[in-house]
Amino acid sequence: MKKITLPNIAILQTAAEGKTLARHEDGRIIFVEGAVPGDVVDVQVIKSKKDYIEAKTVHVVSPSPDRVVPFCQHFGVCGGCKWQQLRYEKQAEYKQQLVEEALRRIGKLQFPSLLPIIKAPQHQYYRNKLEFTFSNKRWLTTDEIASESTHIERNAVGFHIPGMFDRIVDIQHCYLQNDPSNAIRNSLRQYALQQNWSFYDVKEHRGFLRNLIVRTTNTGEVLVILSVGHDDAEKIQLAMDFLVEQFPQLTSYHYVVNTKKNDTLYDLDIVTYHGRGFLYEQLEDLRFKVSPKSFFQTNTTQALALYQTARQFAQLQPTDTVYDLYTGTGSIGIFMARQCEKVVGIEEVEAAIADAKYNAQLNGLQNTHFYAGDVKKLLTVDMVQQHGKPDVLITDPPRAGMHADVVQTLLELSPKRIVYVSCNPSTQARDLQLLADRYNITHVQPVDMFPHTFHIENVVALELA
Ligand SMILES: C[S@@+](CC[C@H](N)C(=O)[O-])C[C@H]1O[C@@H](n2cnc3c(N)ncnc32)[C@H](O)[C@@H]1O
Repeated sequence: MKKITLPNIAILQTAAEGKTLARHEDGRIIFVEGAVPGDVVDVQVIKSKKDYIEAKTVHVVSPSPDRVVPFCQHFGVCGGCKWQQLRYEKQAEYKQQLVEEALRRIGKLQFPSLLPIIKAPQHQYYRNKLEFTFSNKRWLTTDEIASESTHIERNAVGFHIPGMFDRIVDIQHCYLQNDPSNAIRNSLRQYALQQNWSFYDVKEHRGFLRNLIVRTTNTGEVLVILSVGHDDAEKIQLAMDFLVEQFPQLTSYHYVVNTKKNDTLYDLDIVTYHGRGFLYEQLEDLRFKVSPKSFFQTNTTQALALYQTARQFAQLQPTDTVYDLYTGTGSIGIFMARQCEKVVGIEEVEAAIADAKYNAQLNGLQNTHFYAGDVKKLLTVDMVQQHGKPDVLITDPPRAGMHADVVQTLLELSPKRIVYVSCNPSTQARDLQLLADRYNITHVQPVDMFPHTFHIENVVALELA
């Protein structure tokens, strides 16, 4: 296809998925990648449709006053941290707008003014979990391709190139997670190359090293999981011994043999090779066990802000029965348990529920009840008969939001207050619309958990009309 360039495109505002919006002289909207509102850019057309154009920035003609120099050497190639070239203050402002627009446009809702977004105090090294991918298809720079050298290293460990599932950018330094995350990845890569081990080929489904997961906590603990493509006991032992010897300060060392076609580990046996087998995370005076498979909010500092907001919105009374849907390791419920009569938590991952029970005990709680299963199936008349109707209901579903049947059950249960925590304002707005006849929105609080990305967490408080 012939490359079409459109010159001098004025970027007007942000759009979904971290893109920006401009208008073509023929009236069509242009979704532009790699630009910042206020920029004037030359763009290359990727897709041209009747109503809109998709394009990417190829040259900045005049930069927006909000444009800053990206700090990461992998910016532009790696799929993460796409908003690095936008001043943090503006990122926060746009995220707030994103929430407001979703509630207005998708939900067509009535709501009070948004509370000012809770900004992240840390803009770098804020994640407690990263997953790196090993691949024999390193993303090559144009210079490398042009050089025609015969000694180009093709193995890599890092992150996927957006839109190319088999290409990996070889990460030298990632600004998302505290050390020893970078050191572990880089030294394991070096050791694997010395040992001449194969890096995974995702198309052929072949190769030894597949994934490396590093989890850290605000208490300084570290857990690693090495995922390998076949059960080679000798190599596994060498790799794990290498990690134990090079990084003796870690809390827990794990490996998993994954012979499946996908990378997910939930259905596999993760082996504890050395160490405790899990981590402890701390929020206020509460401790949480985090196992290799369990979900824990990836930005601990902001998770605390999120949970404090949810607890404040819940306006708990000592006699309240609280239901915590999609409870993960029980964190929100446990965070509230001391201020209410009882907490009932539901979560589909069994290992997470085991952790939730452990966490309740760890924190001396005797008024929590956790159940493993699909919310849609477990939140039934039987459960309500056993535990009573919820006075307050917390819901924190995955990106897809709640199933319509679950929303219907919420309407039937009609708790006096619902606190809806969401990582996707679009599905949240959709679900809130279904509740709108019976519930009034009293508070909306966006929380920025992921600086330099377009992701935003939002907490909405609802009161029975
Ligand atoms: C956004 S996380 C929230 C976790 C928890 N509230 C926290 O803050 O750590 C969503 C959780 O919902 C769980 N989940 C997803 N679909 C579910 C379903 N249909 N029924 C029960 N749990 C589900 C996921 O396993 C995940 O732990």
